[in-house]
Amino acid sequence: MKNIEFHRFEKIPATIVNSSLDGCQQIASEICTLIKERNLTQSPTVLGLATGSTPTGIYRELIRIHKEEGLSFSNVITFNLDEYYNITSSHPESYNLFMQEQLFDHLDIPTKNINIPDGTVERTATFAYCQDYENRILDAGGIDIQVLGIGRTGHIGFNEPGSSAQSRTRLVHLDSLTKKDAARDFLGEENVPRYALTMGVGTILDSERIYLLAWGRSKASILALAVEGEPSEALPASLLQSHPNIEILADQAAASELTRLKRPWLVRHVDWTSSLIRSAVSWLSANSAKPILKLLDDDYTENGLADLLTQHGPAYDLNIRIFNEIQHTLTGWPGGKTKSSDERRPERAEPHPKRSLILAPEPFDDVIGMGGTIHRLVDQGHEVIVAYLTSGNLAVPDADASKAAELVVDLAELSDDCETEEVRLAKSVLKELGEKADFATDSPNVRSIKGLIRRGEAKIACEICGLSGSKVRFLSLPFYERGKYRQFKLSGDDTDLLKGLFEEIQPHQLYFTGALSEPSTVQANCYQSMRRALLDLSDSPWIQNCYMWQYREASQEWDIQEIDMAVPLSPTELTNKIQGIYQHQTQRRQAPTSDRASNDIWRQAEECDRRLAETYDNLGLAEYEAIEGFKRYSLI
Ligand code: GLP
Repeated sequence: MKNIEFHRFEKIPATIVNSSLDGCQQIASEICTLIKERNLTQSPTVLGLATGSTPTGIYRELIRIHKEEGLSFSNVITFNLDEYYNITSSHPESYNLFMQEQLFDHLDIPTKNINIPDGTVERTATFAYCQDYENRILDAGGIDIQVLGIGRTGHIGFNEPGSSAQSRTRLVHLDSLTKKDAARDFLGEENVPRYALTMGVGTILDSERIYLLAWGRSKASILALAVEGEPSEALPASLLQSHPNIEILADQAAASELTRLKRPWLVRHVDWTSSLIRSAVSWLSANSAKPILKLLDDDYTENGLADLLTQHGPAYDLNIRIFNEIQHTLTGWPGGKTKSSDERRPERAEPHPKRSLILAPEPFDDVIGMGGTIHRLVDQGHEVIVAYLTSGNLAVPDADASKAAELVVDLAELSDDCETEEVRLAKSVLKELGEKADFATDSPNVRSIKGLIRRGEAKIACEICGLSGSKVRFLSLPFYERGKYRQFKLSGDDTDLLKGLFEEIQPHQLYFTGALSEPSTVQANCYQSMRRALLDLSDSPWIQNCYMWQYREASQEWDIQEIDMAVPLSPTELTNKIQGIYQHQTQRRQAPTSDRASNDIWRQAEECDRRLAETYDNLGLAEYEAIEGFKRYSLI
């Protein structure tokens, strides 16, 4: 039986699964059970399907079950939620193509049973087309199981904020945040369609059973609002609260903002671990707008923390204990302070200097997450090596590649040496890009020139962080070179390359990111391959002596109780870090404008470090300009 108290704030039943893989397998198995049952009587199973990276694990599992266990999908009828408007079904980013490649091409489902909105319908015909789509669902007997992801605006399908609970299949305008999230897929925000066709919230609510899935930290805050907030058209996923047969499956990272995980003492009796105490006291301090050392017994009791007080109080003792604990996370010596007591420091004093290996999934993750700390480590005499795990070439606009190729050709003309291999390559790149159809994939030559551009940017950024070129490695992991966004697959080669790097460097400190990322991202794949490599090497003596530190991802912020090491930056250090980030010019897709959204990754990086400093300040600790936070990681 569910502990009702425990779910007191939750208005949709939510299950926290161990991993997205587990969650997807669970749903796939529910779907297959229904199909088997219906197949016995030759009656149809009607599935409502979603695109995006969230459900791909379900599709892989369905294909496996079809192939290995022989389950037939010939009685299955599917309805997809949505499609971008004004793109053909052969467009590489169309949801039609996505579904074919990810699922339908691998099953025995008859083509006539597959329904996906057609993004090429004449504008004047969309209303009738959408009504017909609704009728087709009704004719099929309604949707038995509807699978949903959630967008960062809280959209389901493409029902953006403002969609009503009664809305039906229709043409909609996409929110700017949604377009930003799709920008990578479409090689630039300017290429993302402005409109889409989507089933309505009402259409979705008519389904018999609904599963909403969410993976990764980037979904955590919107998911918590949808589950715990008041239902509102401003957050369409919250309208699912009225459905009688819905379940949410979320991994730990996506569920991390739910009250039962974030402030469990409000919903159940807890064992007061030190991280929970830190979390409760810092929450209390923020909630009552008082620095830690000014919190009173009454503040604790009036805010649901009487139990904490009983076990670890009085307030005076608790306040001092937590204040000191947080104080000790602060250090200007991320590599440890040699010849000093390290009893209360996050890093050991010895050995000194240390070998610090920093893994950056894409060029610029390192400088965004820890540019200031890199500089500190170098300044304090440590041997710092930055390894860029992927080339990042998928994110380079064609115009930058053309510019680089033209430069090679122009230089050769200046020197009258036009017959070199480099010039031939540059010319072939220019020809290819000149003839490139929209969204065509790049040849290896184009990808390699794009990768070189990012290398150049990364090297300059590293120099700004105090690192010379000889300390910068480029691994170009094969999963990235073989894949595309949202569809990467790791292999043994990826792990082997990382193992080689670890064995060669045998670092005393390892910095990395990606553990909390949505599983299809470059960052999550890099984290997985790093983890596999480390597990394979876990008997190596150097691993026992290696401190592993997670730095934050570009779009992530730490909670105070997660931080084990906080490295303050002075105003000059922050400016320097921002300079480093700005060297990644190809990632600045548009010139600075008054439109915040177009540049916000740059502002975000700066604001995020400032916000962390403010958090420390508000808790009553020292007032710094900015802080980079790190979480200690253990392999087991
Ligand atoms: C798109 C789709 C949604 C999907 C969302 C999240 O906007 N229209 O149906 O849920 O993206 O995508 P992802 O699963 O990749 O996070």
